[in-house]
Amino acid sequence: MAASRLLMLSVLALIGGRACTQAASLSFIIDFEGDQFLRDGEPIQLVSGTIHYFRVHPSDWTDRLKKLRYAGFNAVETYIEWSSHEPEPGVYNFTGMLNFTDFLVKAQQEDLMVILRPGPFIDAERDMGGLPYWLLREDPDMKLRTSDPSYLQYVDNWFGEVLLPMVRPLLYSEGGPVVMVQVENEYGSAPACDFVYTSHLRDVVRDALGEDVVLFTTDGDGASYLKCGNIADVYSIVDYGTGTNVSQAFATQRLFEPRGPHMNTEFYPGWLDHWGEPHQTVTTEAVTTTLDEMLAMNASVNMYVFHGGTSFGLTAGSNEFSSKFQACPTSYDYDAPVTEAGDLTEKYYSIREVVGKYLPLPSMPAPTNSSKFAYGNVSLEIAAHLFDVAETLPSAASDDPMTFEALSISNGVVVYETTIDVMAFDPDLLQFESVHDRGYVYLDGQLLGLLAREQQAFEVPLFARKGQLLTVVVESQGRLCYGPNINDFKGIIGEVKLGSTVLKNWTNTPIPLADIRPLNPTLEMLSNSVSTLSLTEGGLMFYDGSFTVNDDPGHPFDTFLQLDGWTKGIAWINDFCLGRYWPVAGPQVTLYVPHGVLVTGQNRVLLLELEGAPCGNTADDTCSVTFTEKHVIDGPTPQ
Ligand SMILES: *[C@@H]1O[C@H](CO)[C@@H](O)[C@H](O)[C@H]1NC(C)=O
Ligand SMILES: *[C@@H]1O[C@H](CO)[C@@H](O)[C@H](O)[C@H]1NC(C)=O
Ligand SMILES: *[C@@H]1O[C@H](CO)[C@@H](O)[C@H](O)[C@H]1NC(C)=O
Ligand SMILES: *[C@@H]1O[C@H](CO)[C@@H](O)[C@H](O)[C@H]1NC(C)=O
Ligand SMILES: *[C@@H]1O[C@H](CO)[C@@H](O)[C@H](O)[C@H]1NC(C)=O
Ligand SMILES: *[C@@H]1O[C@H](CO)[C@@H](O)[C@H](O)[C@H]1NC(C)=O
Repeated sequence: MAASRLLMLSVLALIGGRACTQAASLSFIIDFEGDQFLRDGEPIQLVSGTIHYFRVHPSDWTDRLKKLRYAGFNAVETYIEWSSHEPEPGVYNFTGMLNFTDFLVKAQQEDLMVILRPGPFIDAERDMGGLPYWLLREDPDMKLRTSDPSYLQYVDNWFGEVLLPMVRPLLYSEGGPVVMVQVENEYGSAPACDFVYTSHLRDVVRDALGEDVVLFTTDGDGASYLKCGNIADVYSIVDYGTGTNVSQAFATQRLFEPRGPHMNTEFYPGWLDHWGEPHQTVTTEAVTTTLDEMLAMNASVNMYVFHGGTSFGLTAGSNEFSSKFQACPTSYDYDAPVTEAGDLTEKYYSIREVVGKYLPLPSMPAPTNSSKFAYGNVSLEIAAHLFDVAETLPSAASDDPMTFEALSISNGVVVYETTIDVMAFDPDLLQFESVHDRGYVYLDGQLLGLLAREQQAFEVPLFARKGQLLTVVVESQGRLCYGPNINDFKGIIGEVKLGSTVLKNWTNTPIPLADIRPLNPTLEMLSNSVSTLSLTEGGLMFYDGSFTVNDDPGHPFDTFLQLDGWTKGIAWINDFCLGRYWPVAGPQVTLYVPHGVLVTGQNRVLLLELEGAPCGNTADDTCSVTFTEKHVIDGPTPQ
């Protein structure tokens, strides 16, 4: 298809004439004969870097794009995240950090082409791989990423009616920056191998975007992946990291694309982290060696990720490896050449040197590290207990515990309650079929145990008297983003038994936390009555404080929230959800606070501590956090 278009263009070019030159001047195509990409009729080697707009505060978009361009790269790659843009069916958000159009326009202003990966599934260590949680509510049996009509109707609407019509005017052929669009995402790693689905998706994309854009697939560099990942009339590309035998990897691509440009669409300069596991790194030398090899072969490359940014809010996903659950931290630093906080590493400058051997380096002012400032210690006051907040919220009654999805809550926590109505042994085993992902078990308000999917810890021995109130607070740590189990329902999953009795008659109270604004009046009201609270353990408690950013030139600056002594929870600044913290699990110890969420004057910091605060045991034992200049994402991890 693209080859015949190329032929057309060259014929027209031979005939000459302004109109034809015009046509050729806005074309980006695959030259199969020449094993290369052609832009405006000229060979072009793509050297692209991934920056996810949804992981960078918009006030830093231009800064990060300039840093990419200065390194000699000529393109930026981003996913588009369905779940963020359509948080509920038919409800759309394209403002602020979700204005991807603005991000693409800014990329073009920085002289960058764009490689777009709209999914609909994106993995990317995001909750449910970027699919909206509500798919699982609309149809709990939905076969995600297949031709199941129940799934396709939502994909068709999102792609065909909403997203792709927004993308079309941004195509290179229309004067925009987008030169390539991916169909699905590493589909060869999904179990379904459903060509009806992928070819349908291709047709939806073609219909909406027309013929004048290169469509591609990405798969791991093994024939077994490409076997189910390739789609007829869509260009097959491979992805792989450092240390790979480059010619072998491209030979795999050749099995499916006998002609056309070599390309690696995910070249990893670092790697992803999980809570409780050591911080992952890749050496500069390994990166530059493999990069040089690929570029020397005229291959095009996209570096995944050039700048990882932050999974702000509760958007981080989780993985499952040999059925071990592994949640992803808030930082998506990735040991990338540009750090989470926008700093230029030694790896950055070494990569720039390699790229400079193949592409002209732009003449532009050299970018610098983003300035940081230690805003110091901030004391916090207890604002409210989660149980008191829950009492002000609507709840649902059910025989068996309801999932987050059935309760229409994407993430946050759910408070489950039931009254013990049997005479139990001393002790009896309280057993859960499963809990996704972490649960706190209370009897008459007293903490008796912890449930954790990571350790497959799903039972607590306890003695419950008839009439006592059993409360289980369950936190989602992010839905699985990869593999066969991405239909990862959250909450108490299945039955709860005390001894041999199945517990029934539950009250389910969802507490949405990503957007804290609706809870602010409640927190305000409750903070005036905290003296009545028990101050003995500090779990499930909101803490509120404020600090001042002076108006000296340049302020506010980036800073990092350091949570010495705090255990596990969620942090907000000025209602912006920074994400989850869990310094006792590591490796991430501090949270990145971009300057864009701060204001000169008074700022508010709010924590929900789920497990234990380093303070508050007595009324005059003050609680505090620290804003520091130093980011720690490689802290100690268990064992
Ligand atoms: C849309 O998304 C932006 C960026 O995340 C957020 O600030 C805003 O509150 C959202 N709008 C609505 C109506 O939720
Ligand atoms: C997105 O940004 C563009 C500027 O690039 C602006 O024109 C548009 O109104 C913004 N869209 C929304 C929904 O805010
Ligand atoms: C890479 O693979 C090719 C083809 O299989 C082989 O000839 C070559 O020796 C390998 N290179 C390295 C460095 O192992
Ligand atoms: C790379 O492209 C150049 C220019 O077209 C060509 O001379 C060279 O042989 C190519 N190298 C490889 C390894 O294909
Ligand atoms: C920029 O930040 C990086 C990473 O934090 C650091 O290694 C480097 O020394 C900094 N550069 C300058 C000029 O301060
Ligand atoms: C800030 O708090 C930390 C930890 O509580 C403490 O070690 C430090 O001395 C405090 N610094 C200031 C300037 O108060």
